[in-house]
Amino acid sequence: MITRRSLIAGGVSLAAFGALTRPAAARRRPLTDPFRLGVASGEPTPGGVVLWTRLAVDPLAADGLGGMPDRAVPVEWQVAADEGFRRVVRHGVEIARPESAHSVHVELDGLDPGAEYFYRFRTGTEISPAGRTVTAPAPGARTRDLRLSFTSCADYQAGWFTAFRRMAEDEPDLIAFLGDYIYEYGDYKYPVRDQAGGECLDLAGYRLRHAQHKADPELQLAHAIAPWAVVWDDHDIENAWAGDVPEQPDPPFLQRRAAAFQAYYENMPLRRAQRPSGPDMRLYRTLRWGAVANLHMLDTRQYRDLYACTGRSGTVGADCAERFAPNRTILGAEQEAWLDGELRESAATWDLLGQQVFLMEMDWTNGAGKGYSNEGWDGYVASRNRLTAALDTYKRNGVVLTGDVHSHWAGEVKRDFQDPESEPVAVELVTTSVTSAGNGLDEYPNTGILLQENPHVKFFNGRRGYVRARISQKEMRVDFRSLPRVTEPYAAAYTSGSFVIEPGAPRLNPV
Ligand SMILES: [Fe+2]
Repeated sequence: MITRRSLIAGGVSLAAFGALTRPAAARRRPLTDPFRLGVASGEPTPGGVVLWTRLAVDPLAADGLGGMPDRAVPVEWQVAADEGFRRVVRHGVEIARPESAHSVHVELDGLDPGAEYFYRFRTGTEISPAGRTVTAPAPGARTRDLRLSFTSCADYQAGWFTAFRRMAEDEPDLIAFLGDYIYEYGDYKYPVRDQAGGECLDLAGYRLRHAQHKADPELQLAHAIAPWAVVWDDHDIENAWAGDVPEQPDPPFLQRRAAAFQAYYENMPLRRAQRPSGPDMRLYRTLRWGAVANLHMLDTRQYRDLYACTGRSGTVGADCAERFAPNRTILGAEQEAWLDGELRESAATWDLLGQQVFLMEMDWTNGAGKGYSNEGWDGYVASRNRLTAALDTYKRNGVVLTGDVHSHWAGEVKRDFQDPESEPVAVELVTTSVTSAGNGLDEYPNTGILLQENPHVKFFNGRRGYVRARISQKEMRVDFRSLPRVTEPYAAAYTSGSFVIEPGAPRLNPV
């Protein structure tokens, strides 16, 4: 049987596109191998999805434009019900323009809900690799479980993207990426892999960094196997940015943020609703998976108040009254109101919150005394309390999906961490990184102390990897997947922890 595994093996048969329109571009000098950045899909709806590609004949061209000519290029696309493209159900042409770095976003609807499709692109005589995608089930549909994998933090210089290959091999329905898809950093002294271009400061720099990532074969596999839902964290723009406030004064931050947002939009399978307007980009939104789950993708960076206690980020050990100031917010008033509305109206079994930073309380100080990270929700306690109150009031089964910290964690989110009697109202699953922080260890010398002093935290693993979940109306099964190393490619993944969560009981049950 031919299965979608042939996508992973790279053996998809590329039958001719057939008698589609012959684009004018074909009469010009042909582009050689313009699909070096692969293909992607994202943002599934019932019967809809976004298809993405970006043309580049020289992905590492210093101007970030992929060696493409300064002209519009027509790109044909096909969607088929079968991997061999014998049953093409939709086709069309989209124009790849130089002002969008020759990226293509095709927004489809009217396909079957809860169905698998295959897609590919052509320009001239060049045909792209094929991708597999999945549409969301019909509203309220009880039939299809959601197989969701998620990860974060893919620092190119820190190692090989093996985690993306292992995610692809699981053939999930949906991949959520929780931020730090790129790192804006300049060159490391001892990188595992060399990056091109130095620190990202302008549009050319961000475009080039994204192109280098998209040219990676492991990342291409993960994009080609399933639709993605993405949110950024800090490094997609600049380390530790908070709202309009940068870490470094130069270049002018809103200018830099606009460049980073533009490149992010161009390189992700996002909808036009997410297209940036200068330094503003509405990234928060909900994806719906029938009666099973709503996935609320949040943005804890663009609208947050500045860091409590110190004004600077990453101050592990911070503690001061400002953390509790009732007007402080990590989501911003508008997004908070929107999320409250989404939770109030939700009728799905699970409400998944895809977001960036630790939501549950975490005392990082070993032994006597307490210290919190002012970058996570511990620096915005009132914001957290409003969210946990909403989950409680609306009787939602909340599962928080988190990235940022480059290690696996799982814990229970209490209704009010200041109240020792408080019951959990949600579970938090924190994924480790793809590469950031290097090989890591399963446990560190202080792991036992951290778990002991934070009894609501139930699990830690300090390797690289991803999390995979199988979500039905009956239960959610979760495997934390870990890799022994990322300093060399092709490490085998292993399961470092498994849990079951049941609706109505926000607890982690070890398997
Ligand atoms: Fe990161």
